[in-house]
Parts: sequence; structure tokens; C-alpha cells
Amino acid sequence: MKFSTVFAAAALFSAAHARPRYIARSSSFLLQNGEDAIALNNQFKTLTTNSTCTTGSNACVNGEFAQCVGGKYVLQSCGSGLTCAALPLVNSAGTSITCATEADVQSRIAATGATSAANSTSSSVASASASASASASVSSCSATATASAAAAASTSITSTGTTSSGTTSASNNTAAQSSLTLLSSLINTGFEDNGTNEFSPEAGEIASATSSNNFINFCATVNKPLTNGTQAANGSCNAAPMGVIAGTNNMPSAKWVYPANMDTVPANQNFTVVLAVSHLQTGHFVNPATNFFAAPQTVNDTTGDIQGHSHVVIEKLQALNQTTPTSPGTFAFFKGLNDVAVNGTLSTVVTGGLPAGVYRMASINAAANHQPVLVAVAQHGALDDMSHEFLYDHLRHDDLI
Ligand SMILES: *[C@@H]1O[C@H](CO)[C@@H](O)[C@H](O)[C@H]1NC(C)=O
Ligand SMILES: *[C@@H]1O[C@H](CO)[C@@H](O)[C@H](O)[C@H]1NC(C)=O
Ligand SMILES: *[C@@H]1O[C@H](CO)[C@@H](O)[C@H](O)[C@H]1NC(C)=O
Ligand SMILES: *[C@@H]1O[C@H](CO)[C@@H](O)[C@H](O)[C@H]1NC(C)=O
Ligand SMILES: *[C@@H]1O[C@H](CO)[C@@H](O)[C@H](O)[C@H]1NC(C)=O
Ligand SMILES: *[C@@H]1O[C@H](CO)[C@@H](O)[C@H](O)[C@H]1NC(C)=O
Ligand SMILES: *[C@@H]1O[C@H](CO)[C@@H](O)[C@H](O)[C@H]1NC(C)=O
Ligand SMILES: *[C@@H]1O[C@H](CO)[C@@H](O)[C@H](O)[C@H]1NC(C)=O
Ligand SMILES: *[C@@H]1O[C@H](CO)[C@@H](O)[C@H](O)[C@H]1NC(C)=O
Ligand SMILES: *[C@@H]1O[C@H](CO)[C@@H](O)[C@H](O)[C@H]1NC(C)=O
Repeated sequence: MKFSTVFAAAALFSAAHARPRYIARSSSFLLQNGEDAIALNNQFKTLTTNSTCTTGSNACVNGEFAQCVGGKYVLQSCGSGLTCAALPLVNSAGTSITCATEADVQSRIAATGATSAANSTSSSVASASASASASASVSSCSATATASAAAAASTSITSTGTTSSGTTSASNNTAAQSSLTLLSSLINTGFEDNGTNEFSPEAGEIASATSSNNFINFCATVNKPLTNGTQAANGSCNAAPMGVIAGTNNMPSAKWVYPANMDTVPANQNFTVVLAVSHLQTGHFVNPATNFFAAPQTVNDTTGDIQGHSHVVIEKLQALNQTTPTSPGTFAFFKGLNDVAVNGTLSTVVTGGLPAGVYRMASINAAANHQPVLVAVAQHGALDDMSHEFLYDHLRHDDLI
């Protein structure tokens, strides 16, 4: 993993400020550890090379690892790209002073739920990497770190992250959801592969765009307004993640019950469209004017079904055998099917009906924020239904069918 180098350096380089260990693993100390780390890092910001100190204690000064010798700090660079900071321990109460990337420091503190993570480090990576003795630092520091301190730090750091399993972590707290730093446990290294190194690519396959930061700043590369919850008619760029992808046992499906495919319906009279849906937890519908495409897809924790709603759109065709594509900007009827399905079906009245003619009727199954439903595999049956209807008036019925 990309962090192994950092972890190794950190393990050699740190000193534990551990409190007495608890026997049972509990998350009760995590928040406190995070807050302690923030407090320490704020305290470190006030230190200079001239600060007095207690011999044997450690700190961070100007982003460098500082050991107190004879009442004065002796500084050692963390090396290029790393900064010195107090980090929360994970398996026990306490903190450890270590060298890490600025992003790692922020994500580890954010993962505890402690706030002010964005301002936690004692100095920027830039100032640390500007230090002269970067290349020599690790070996010289390993000589001065005590064995027990190194062991404590090693335990605390390697037992975190879920990066190797590729699953999402259990971090679900306000700090993680408001932090401006991508949690290191979420970095998707698979996105770094452009796909052209496969043994037998399909003819015409092109290289994928790649990213080592989950494309978090992708929209800065295109000249588009940001997707901000409104329906920007000229298009926009969306930074919201796709969210939870439904598994293959939870792929939504739909079929028109009325009018069923090839049904005839009296023209210019109310009729009620009825859609049977499966594997869509209906009734989930957010404000389409302010929250359009503005949050990730979610599924029901118990059933795995996508939480969303459906729509009906009816388009007039020139004839049943029309072969030219329709114009999606033009339709005869459109309605969100926002209710909770009753007996597996959603319905709505087409008030006043539609003029005589041939029509195509489609469902549009969507997640709560109106994005099309996303499922786990590429090859699957249609997640929506389309049918064709004849709207007739009595005079022209025979002409139509
Ligand atoms: C530390 O003390 C020296 C000598 O008194 C002084 O020149 C220097 O500016 C001080 N540095 C800081 C960071 O205060
Ligand atoms: C973070 O630090 C910057 C610069 O030191 C400061 O301007 C800002 O107010 C701080 N923000 C918080 C939330 O503490
Ligand atoms: C995450 O937090 C949100 C908001 O507090 C909550 O609705 C949701 O159930 C939580 N999810 C998990 C998996 O704990
Ligand atoms: C795809 O990635 C490989 C390295 O994994 C690189 O050699 C190749 O040039 C890349 N192709 C494109 C089109 O970027
Ligand atoms: C959202 O973006 C559109 C342009 O795409 C803009 O007209 C609108 O004012 C923005 N609204 C908000 C709330 O930012
Ligand atoms: C949409 O794009 C067209 C053509 O580029 C432009 O004339 C129009 O002003 C744009 N509308 C908005 C709301 O940005
Ligand atoms: C998940 O689905 C089950 C079964 O339909 C339902 O009882 C439960 O209320 C749903 N949970 C949520 C959070 O909507
Ligand atoms: C559609 O059917 C009509 C006869 O009903 C025929 O005249 C016409 O050529 C057909 N159009 C196409 C595109 O097949
Ligand atoms: C529910 O649907 C079944 C067939 O799918 C139908 O036989 C039954 O009458 C419906 N029940 C209600 C209350 O609509
Ligand atoms: C048509 O449907 C509307 C509701 O959508 C209703 O108010 C109206 O009474 C209906 N008309 C007839 C003739 O049933």
C-alpha cells in the first residue's frame, strides 16, 4: 500500500504519550484521543527552538520531530512530504507523536469524531519538506527512538485503516462528513489503473481516465458550473459520489400493468397508469428543485433495495413502426410516481387523457435524488419498462389498429 512507507517511518520515529491501557477494546476513548491530539498539536504551534522543555519529553516544533535534551529541543526533520504531529491512538487511550503526511494526520483525527481537524497539525508539510536533512532523518531518528515507543506507535498505526480490504470503514460521524480531507481508508487505488494492461482488451477499448484521489477535484478540470442541486439546463459537473450500488439480487425492475403493452385506450379521457415495480424501496423523493443529483444513492440496510421513486413519461410517436429516435425534450405526459407502492404498484391519473395517436410509455426508476438507479453489474435486463399504446377516439379506432 502507498502508506506502508509512511507507517514504517512513523513507527521508528515516534514516542507514545499513552495513558493506562484498557483491557476491553472500546471506542469510548477514540473521541478523547482525537481531542487530545488536536490540543497537543495546537500547543506545538506555540513552541519554538528556544522553548524550554523537560528533558526526555518529545514534541513537534516547526513540523519537525523535537526531543528535549538538557532543557532544549533538538530537532530532526520528518523527511520530504511528512510533518510531525500528535496522532490519536486507535486501540487504547492516548496519543503518539509521529511523522505522517498532512492528509493522514487530518483523516486520522477526523475519524475519531474530534472537530477542528483541519487545523490540527503543528505546521504544514511544505515547511517540513523544506528542511535540509530529509534523507538522513529516518536512520538517525531510529537510533534515538526507544523500543517501547516504536512498538506502541506501530501497533496504533497498523491497526487502523481498512484500505487493504477495499471496504468502506465504519467512520460515520460529523467530522468525517464535514472534513475537507479524503479519508485515507477510502482512497480507491483501482482508479489508478487505466485498464489497458489487461491481457485481452476488447477491440477499440480506450484508456480510462485515472485518479489517485478518487477524482475529488475532477470538476476543476472541466469548464462547467458545479451541480448544485438545481437542474442546470445547460449541464453541470457533479462532485457527489455515486454512493451505494445495489447488488445483483436487488436490481430494480418494472412492468406496465395499465395500459399494458399494445393496449388500446380511449382518447381524451382520464386514464390511470399503473406500474408494477420490484426491488425499489419507493416513496423516497427529495426536492427536485434544490436537491437534484445532490446526494449519493442509498439502499435499505435490511433489504438492499435502492431507496427511490419512479416516473412515467409518455411520448407521441409518428407511427408504431417509427424508426427515428424521439426527441426527449418533448413529451406528451410526465409525472413523478412519488408514493409508496401499494400492492407492488405505483399509479397516477393522466388527467384529461391524451389525443388519439400512437404513444410510447416508459418508466424512469430513480434514486431519491433523481439520479438513474445504479446496479452492481453491466450485464442485466432492463431496469425500466417501455410499452406502446394506442389512444383512439371511436371514429378512428379502426385506423389505428
Ligand atoms: C532564539 O533565540 C535566539 C538567541 O536569543 C534568537 O536569535 C532567535 O531569533 C530566537 N528564535 C526564535 C524562533 O525565537
Ligand atoms: C485555522 O488556522 C488558520 C490559520 O492559522 C486560521 O486563520 C483559521 O481561523 C483556523 N480555523 C479554525 C477553524 O480554527
Ligand atoms: C450514519 O449517520 C447517519 C446520520 O447520522 C445515519 O442516518 C445513518 O444511519 C448512519 N449509518 C450508519 C451505517 O451508521
Ligand atoms: C495506461 O497506463 C499504463 C501504465 O499502467 C501506461 O503505460 C499507458 O501509457 C497508459 N495509457 C494511456 C493511454 O494513458
Ligand atoms: C446553481 O447553479 C446554477 C447554474 O448552473 C445557477 O444559476 C444557480 O444560481 C446556482 N444556485 C445555487 C443555489 O448555487
Ligand atoms: C446555455 O447555453 C447556450 C448555448 O451555449 C447559451 O446561449 C445560453 O445562454 C446558456 N444558458 C444558460 C442558462 O447558461
Ligand atoms: C427497509 O425495508 C424494510 C422492508 O421493506 C422496511 O420494513 C424498513 O422500514 C426499511 N428501512 C428503512 C430505513 O426504510
Ligand atoms: C410503417 O408502416 C407503414 C404502413 O403501415 C408503411 O407505409 C411505412 O413505410 C412503414 N415505415 C417504416 C419506417 O417501416
Ligand atoms: C394485489 O395484486 C394482485 C395481483 O398482483 C391482485 O390479485 C390483488 O387483487 C391486489 N390487491 C389489491 C388490494 O389491490
Ligand atoms: C379526471 O381526473 C381528475 C383528477 O386527476 C379528476 O379531478 C376528474 O374528476 C376526473 N374526470 C373524470 C371525468 O373522471
